[in-house]
Amino acid sequence: MPRHFLTGAELSRDELIALIDRAIELKAAPHASRALEGKSVGLIFQKPSTRTRLSFETGVFELGGNPVILRPDEMQLSRGEPVRDTAYVLSRHVAAFGIRTHGDELIEELAQYATVPVFNMLTAGHHPCQALADLVTVKETFGTLDGVVLTYVGDGNNVARSLAIVGSRAGAEIRVAAPEGYQLEDGIGAELFEDPAEAVRGANVVYTDVWVSMGDEETAAERRAALADYRVDDALLDLAADDAVALHDLPAHPGDEITAEVLYGDRQRIWDQAENRRHAQKALLELLVR
Ligand code: CP
Ligand code: NVA
Repeated sequence: MPRHFLTGAELSRDELIALIDRAIELKAAPHASRALEGKSVGLIFQKPSTRTRLSFETGVFELGGNPVILRPDEMQLSRGEPVRDTAYVLSRHVAAFGIRTHGDELIEELAQYATVPVFNMLTAGHHPCQALADLVTVKETFGTLDGVVLTYVGDGNNVARSLAIVGSRAGAEIRVAAPEGYQLEDGIGAELFEDPAEAVRGANVVYTDVWVSMGDEETAAERRAALADYRVDDALLDLAADDAVALHDLPAHPGDEITAEVLYGDRQRIWDQAENRRHAQKALLELLVR
């Protein structure tokens, strides 16, 4: 069985810690690794992306490899070619491939039949590559992950779920504050709160994501209303630890889930976090194609 990365739970705690440290090393020396020399990596995008595409395409290049971007309208998959056949054929050409798609069933089926590693570039359920970059950012800000309190405020979505699974495994304390109906499920590594003020007390990181994820557009108005008290602003940050920083995986909607003051202010590490996607994913690709 090849090494897949679908939810992040495939990596042990030690592997995660090593991967985060490796990402920080690669950030200091971006051309230090030729792990993908002579190899190609498939990148299938069935949903829009700015950061994920940029960071994977440039990251594969920096590792000496060839990124192959595949759009759904250009693939036979969209004309009914079986998922199994798609996985077989991709596996004959690339050293690994990733997909950004809707439900989690498609990536699971691809992984079932692929003979090369498959990685998740965002599904409705998970965004584990984002969580890796988040943890790299926490480690470079605080020097450790152990016991760092990371509070996610807002919709209990794919980004929150990956943070809970991957962050708790790496040693951080993950809290999620969300209103009823938008809460993350219990038992995946996060302590659940309804009151954002209570959840950010003592937090080192205050994290948020969009209120309307890709695929949730039909319920946009009710989501905005339900989540209106879950905005990350200066007043909420003031309730966190003195050294607290704000994170956001982006794209942001200033005025909704985060204020412009926080997004462009001096208590955020959001733009470093966006850059860290590339470094984290390079460390992941090194591990997967080893
Ligand atoms: N954070 C993130 O995954 O951004 P994109 O949707 O632009 O890839
Ligand atoms: N939760 C968001 C993340 C975007 C990077 C979405 O799925 O659209």
